[in-house]
Amino acid sequence: MDLGIDLGTTHTVVAVVDRGNFPLLSFSDEFGDSHDHLPSISALGPGDGELIHGFEAARAMAQGLPGIRSVKRFLSNPAVTSSTPVTLGAGREGARVLGIGELLTSYLRHLHDQISRATGTDALRAVVGVPAHAHTGQRFVTIEAFKAAGFEVLGMLNEPSAAGLEYAMRQSRTLNSRRTRIIIYDLGGGTFDASLVDMSGTVGEVIDSVGLNDLGGEDFDQVLAGMARPRLADAVSEDALREACRIAKEGLRPQSRNVLVDLPEETVRIPVAEYEDACQPLVDRSIDVMTPLSNLLQSDPARSDVAGIDMVGGATSLPLVPRRIRDLFGRRVHRSPNPTGSTAIGLAIAADPTSPYSIRDRLSRGFGVFRETNWGQQVAFDVLADQTLRLDSPTTITRRYRSGHNIGIYRFVEFSRTDADGTPRGDLTPFAQIVVPFDESLQRSGAAIGPEDVHPVDNGHWAEETYTIDPSGMVSAEISDLDTGWSASTTMGLDRPVVRS
Ligand SMILES: Nc1ncnc2c1ncn2[C@@H]1O[C@H](COP(=O)(O)OP(=O)(O)OP(=O)(O)O)[C@@H](O)[C@H]1O
Ligand SMILES: [Mg+2]
Repeated sequence: MDLGIDLGTTHTVVAVVDRGNFPLLSFSDEFGDSHDHLPSISALGPGDGELIHGFEAARAMAQGLPGIRSVKRFLSNPAVTSSTPVTLGAGREGARVLGIGELLTSYLRHLHDQISRATGTDALRAVVGVPAHAHTGQRFVTIEAFKAAGFEVLGMLNEPSAAGLEYAMRQSRTLNSRRTRIIIYDLGGGTFDASLVDMSGTVGEVIDSVGLNDLGGEDFDQVLAGMARPRLADAVSEDALREACRIAKEGLRPQSRNVLVDLPEETVRIPVAEYEDACQPLVDRSIDVMTPLSNLLQSDPARSDVAGIDMVGGATSLPLVPRRIRDLFGRRVHRSPNPTGSTAIGLAIAADPTSPYSIRDRLSRGFGVFRETNWGQQVAFDVLADQTLRLDSPTTITRRYRSGHNIGIYRFVEFSRTDADGTPRGDLTPFAQIVVPFDESLQRSGAAIGPEDVHPVDNGHWAEETYTIDPSGMVSAEISDLDTGWSASTTMGLDRPVVRS
């Protein structure tokens, strides 16, 4: 069974490849009611504190048991590895700390069980999504957890690219030879992405994408909770208040005049106008980061090759959001008929070997290496790959040279932009470090070495750097001493480099 799986911050949505159709899979809650998503929630069960997930976990948390929502937000930490600790029931009695990889794997096993039950097969193959701006660590931890949970991972696609595929299939008539591009505006539970996707023909290509890893529907819940809290007469837990606020927010319609936050003991009424004023800065953040893309739209509508803005993600259901975007960009703004399902559908289209639609991603973050030069006195930066790199097939970059030093210190970073002169700018994230002694005795002794041990040598060993970037954007590096055969390698996002001799 081939699937598209959108592991969202709040909802996990699964679309099935079914003879040219891509229906969303239904999941049952404890009452037997069907939903087209599984809540992305884990909790400790009422028995011996066993891990439970999805609807069961949502219920446990509503009953006050320790749990965690939005694990995906922790994954967006640039330094994330499988062992990064996350806490279920943070700050409370009975809290438990787990590695994020272990927690995610356990959640995905539950997902695997649910899908197997619904489809009657255990053999599940999936294309999985990841935010366009995910760091390599997030990509790595996500893929490994899917595999450990029993899925065969066919590939990983940036979420907006998947939404672009779904748009192309649904709206192929608004795209024509003159207007082949579309901006995908995706405001989900915890992340915002905007991408310019070119869909000429049936092969799409992501031209550019921007985003925020910390903006989503949950922030709108938080704003409401902040407004409701001082109006409450009775004490109520933060979890319960946030949940009530989410429900109240989701109940808003374009004509609503009040938001009603319904709690067991009381109902708080807040005028919509007041709530929308307080939310405006959140929407404006999304508009600000989207500027490089939306400029293309505004310039001259008649001559622009951008067909419009396609709004996806559950948080675009909040009336304020499409209204504000339409105020700015007019009638070329469309909302997807299925804002929470379009990413999963696009992932399923990508998983379908017979689909005529496909997409080609570009690397969404560049990466490079800081190296010691001039006897360790100076550091040089080399860009190894930037956003122009296309990810249709695995890419290998190899560099070979005679080392000028007894030790090579390679500090890898990811970056979002480079200057004209190639210097990385914007958010720079250290992602791994490899220290390689080009010295047989140091290799044998395995002694700890650092920058103070670096000195120049004549006739140094031959060094080879090999970088492999797979189509999902994951990077592995291997540095070898060709004279001795000693090498060290790392997959960006692993806890520590693997050294072998
Ligand atoms: N009718 C609605 N009105 C307002 N907000 C809504 C509505 N329905 C869903 N939402 C909000 O949409 C968000 C979830 O959207 P979605 O399912 O697209 O996110 P996700 O894929 O889980 O997260 P992400 O893409 O950020 O990882 C939640 O914050 C939810 O409260
Ligand atoms: Mg999403």
